[in-house]
This record gives sequence, C-alpha cells and structure tokens, in this order.
Amino acid sequence: MNKKVLFDLNYGLYIVTSKEGDTFSGCVVNTVTQITAEEKPKLIVAINKENYTAEIAKKSKKMNLAVLSQEADMLLIGKFGFRSGRDINKLEGTEYKMGNNGIPIITEKVVSYIECNILQVIDCGTHDLFLLEMQEGEKIEEKEPMTYHYYHTVIKGKTPPKASSYNED
Ligand SMILES: Cc1cc2nc3c(=O)[nH]c(=O)nc-3n(C[C@H](O)[C@H](O)[C@H](O)COP(=O)(O)O)c2cc1C
Repeated sequence: MNKKVLFDLNYGLYIVTSKEGDTFSGCVVNTVTQITAEEKPKLIVAINKENYTAEIAKKSKKMNLAVLSQEADMLLIGKFGFRSGRDINKLEGTEYKMGNNGIPIITEKVVSYIECNILQVIDCGTHDLFLLEMQEGEKIEEKEPMTYHYYHTVIKGKTPPKASSYNED
C-alpha cells in the first residue's frame, strides 16, 4: 500500500481553540471540512486524543476555528502546532479576540473565523473526530488562505507526529 498517495489530498490550515473554565488551548490542524450547508452548517475536525485542545474541547463542548492566511509564519505555527498548552500559555504574545461563545479566537495572520458548538465526538483511534455546528462566522482580512500544499512547498514547514496526515518518511 502506497500511503504517499495521501499527500495528494488537499487541505487548508487552521488554528482551533477551546476553553473550559481557566484552561485554554489551541492547536494547528489541517483536518477541517464543511459537511452540510443548512442554516447552521456542520463541519468536522480531527484532533489527536493526546492534544490538550481535544481534552478541553470535550469538556467545553465548544470550539472556534481560525483560517490561517498565507502570511502565517513559523513563529505562530510553531507555538500552536509544535508546543502544547499544557506547557505554555499560547495566548501570551498572540493576537486574539473573545468569541461570543466565550472561547478565544486567534486573529493573527487569519483571514476569517468560525464559532462552533460540538454536537458529537467520534472515536477514530488515535484521533477524535469532532462534529461541529457553526454558530458565528466573520471575515477578518481579505488575504489568501493558507493551503497545506503552500505550507509544505513554499514555507517548507514540517508536520509533527500528532497531525492526522503525519508520515514518518
Ligand atoms: C501543519 C500542521 C498540521 C497539523 N494538523 C493536525 C491535525 O489535523 N490534527 C491534530 O490533532 N494535530 C495536528 N497538528 C499537531 C498539533 O497542532 C500539535 O500536536 C499541537 O502541539 C497540540 O497542542 P495542544 O496540546 O496544546 O493541543 C498539526 C501541526 C502542524 C504543524
């Protein structure tokens, strides 16, 4: 089986955030997809069970998504994609605003954001699949959204083991 064919799948790049009481975290993900187009559209996102963001989101039942722009740099992606909220306060030194649902939304190098309720969590083994219902959505900046392909080919960014699309080769 040639797992490299999975590199041909296309994705964007996002920072998902969640908060429960005083505990906050957010992480970079590529696994966001819109599923339905009803009045409150549904989306999915896959998050590794060991990520602090997944632990917090399962308790808070709310999650916000920020769509990264092509200008997102490795300082931002490094903080949210390679370090854990268990070890550092990721909001420190990061531009954000508070969502209507009380969950911080990253606004730095972001083109738009979506506030969501979590309807269901599906156990996929290493990862949990969160089924989300959109509650709010706003544009922040008219810039090009970052694609996963752009991240790998132009920024020459790496993908850590906890990402859904990690391949040890
Ligand atoms: C380009 C990129 C893509 C990633 N995609 C995902 C993903 O889809 N799902 C996931 O669980 N983690 C993904 N990660 C890894 C998490 O962002 C990373 O494990 C993060 O440090 C978790 O932080 P937390 O423990 O504060 O939640 C990705 C990281 C990068 C850099």
